[in-house]
Amino acid sequence: MKKVVLAYSGGLDTSVAIPWLGDQGYEVYAVAIDVGQGGDLPAAVARAKALGAVDARAIDARQEFARDFAFAALKMNALYQGRYPLVSALSRPLIARLLIDVVEQVGADAVAHGCTGKGNDQVRFEVSLAALAPDVEVLAPVRDWGMTRADTIAYAESRSLPITTTKSSPYSVDENLWGRSIECGVLEDPWAAPPDDIFASTAAAADAPGEPLDIQIGFERGIPVSVDHEMLDPVALVDALEKKVGAYGYGRVDIVEDRLVGIKSREIYEAPAALALIAAHADLEALTLERAVAREKRSLDARWADLVYEGLWFSPLKEAIDAFADTTQRHVTGDVRLRITAGGCLVTGRRSPESLYDLELATYDEGDSFDQSDAVGFVKLWGLPSKVHARRARS
Ligand code: ARG
Repeated sequence: MKKVVLAYSGGLDTSVAIPWLGDQGYEVYAVAIDVGQGGDLPAAVARAKALGAVDARAIDARQEFARDFAFAALKMNALYQGRYPLVSALSRPLIARLLIDVVEQVGADAVAHGCTGKGNDQVRFEVSLAALAPDVEVLAPVRDWGMTRADTIAYAESRSLPITTTKSSPYSVDENLWGRSIECGVLEDPWAAPPDDIFASTAAAADAPGEPLDIQIGFERGIPVSVDHEMLDPVALVDALEKKVGAYGYGRVDIVEDRLVGIKSREIYEAPAALALIAAHADLEALTLERAVAREKRSLDARWADLVYEGLWFSPLKEAIDAFADTTQRHVTGDVRLRITAGGCLVTGRRSPESLYDLELATYDEGDSFDQSDAVGFVKLWGLPSKVHARRARS
């Protein structure tokens, strides 16, 4: 019998996929990967076995996800289309890599995922899998079996599968340590305001505490290491910030986004920790990066976000930009103070032993070392092309 390793979430589709893949002649190895989505993974693993998987396991990948994926994105201030912190896009390449580890351990022939044919996630899985294991076969039952959700439930009932098909949420939610993505249901109308009950990690701004909250984040070489002077590991740091910032209702994103497959889609995200960290990190870069490096980095930041959104985590260009990122981050050490208010987050201070800010150059008070007479010739030459052009235009 052929063996398939299934990226198993515990949800309806990947649960039904287990007997369905069995019907296609596969032994199913179900792998549930913990990237901080919450929920009861041990129970999901037990259910996979009850559904007929020959083997089912959970892998705790939270620290690795935080350190090597979320914080890699933070180094590049990664926001797709300027606003989406790549939550779902970051977990797929890690999941693909962990699946391939299991493929090698058990000598499997194929990998299966539960993505539909309309989204980005199928692209991210399959391109990552192709980059890591070019010869492994990929099965996408949900995309290929042509069943609606009702068909899926009917299939589960006809086989008396141990699946709870209680009236499930009309939303499609994907969650990890870096945030939550929410789509479908009423959200498909871009004019419809998001209902309050879709949010889980952010309070409504109206329910925020009355007093603003100041938070100090410490960075070492571009990586956040402390919150209010307490050293924290990556997972604990993101969790702590999510609680503090989410309580103020900061971190919601409502965006019409361009999917790689050509569809415009209305998406809601909540990512209080990611967005606060990106604001802080980008600000510390403004203090510590040389001007030309900072300018180049802003365009590479956007390029990096596009590459990762579009499934090219394991690609030579992304790897090359990562090397650029690491070079720049050598200096991104210091502290940033954030002021969190109802629905808001502002940087109110930054400091660094690597600061390029020179008070003697900047000051308008005593102690000014900037020679203003140098500006005279500089401004003349800088404006020379404009002058020459204007003279021709007038003649
Ligand atoms: N549009 C987002 C992205 O492409 C969110 C995807 C959410 N995935 C999901 N299976 N619900 O990254």
